[in-house]
Amino acid sequence: MENIQVAVRIRPDPEPSIWAIHDQHIFLNNQMRKPPNGQGRTTFAFDHCFSQDSKNTDIYSKEVKSLVLGSTNGINGTIFLYGQTGSGKTYTMLGKENDEGVLLQSFKDLFAKIEADLNKTYVLRCSYFEIYNEQIFDLLKPSSKLQETLQVNEDQKKEFFSERTHRIISIIHQ
Ligand SMILES: Nc1ncnc2c1ncn2[C@@H]1O[C@H](COP(=O)(O)OP(=O)(O)OP(=O)(O)O)[C@@H](O)[C@H]1O
Ligand SMILES: [Mg+2]
Repeated sequence: MENIQVAVRIRPDPEPSIWAIHDQHIFLNNQMRKPPNGQGRTTFAFDHCFSQDSKNTDIYSKEVKSLVLGSTNGINGTIFLYGQTGSGKTYTMLGKENDEGVLLQSFKDLFAKIEADLNKTYVLRCSYFEIYNEQIFDLLKPSSKLQETLQVNEDQKKEFFSERTHRIISIIHQ
């Protein structure tokens, strides 16, 4: 597996979509955006393409699960959602009833794995930030303090850190 995987997901839209997905390719159907010679369609290839019909469980099982479980074996991983406003980042993260977001599915799998492993002690540290207009918000703060922005500092090793709320959850098996 490549170190970096890039996937695209199309949000359901009541309007006919200008995008079409076939196999792992996404096509731009809009005539105005055809290549100058008018031949063929503009095509972009990704590691995975998820159509309007995809569910958050599809995204989780193909893109997220292996990274999440890999972390319990000491492998660092990042899942980065990128897209214009309204494109479905929050929906993919949090989901809704009957379409659970990848965040909740991650926690369920992590806790199931931890509980099944009687030979190790795990400590999970969990922070939850929003970066918006170059300001950082700590989403684990009580709702009355959610508007407070976080100060970002640089330590002696030139690493950035920020004071934050975090919960430490530990499960210790005797
Ligand atoms: N796959 C999907 N299935 C059903 N509804 C979706 C899907 N993706 C997005 N939506 C709906 O589209 C709307 C916009 O999505 P969402 O809030 O997730 O966008 P966003 O990328 O987080 O935008 P912003 O950058 O403004 O936070 C929401 O009402 C959401 O419920
Ligand atoms: Mg959002």
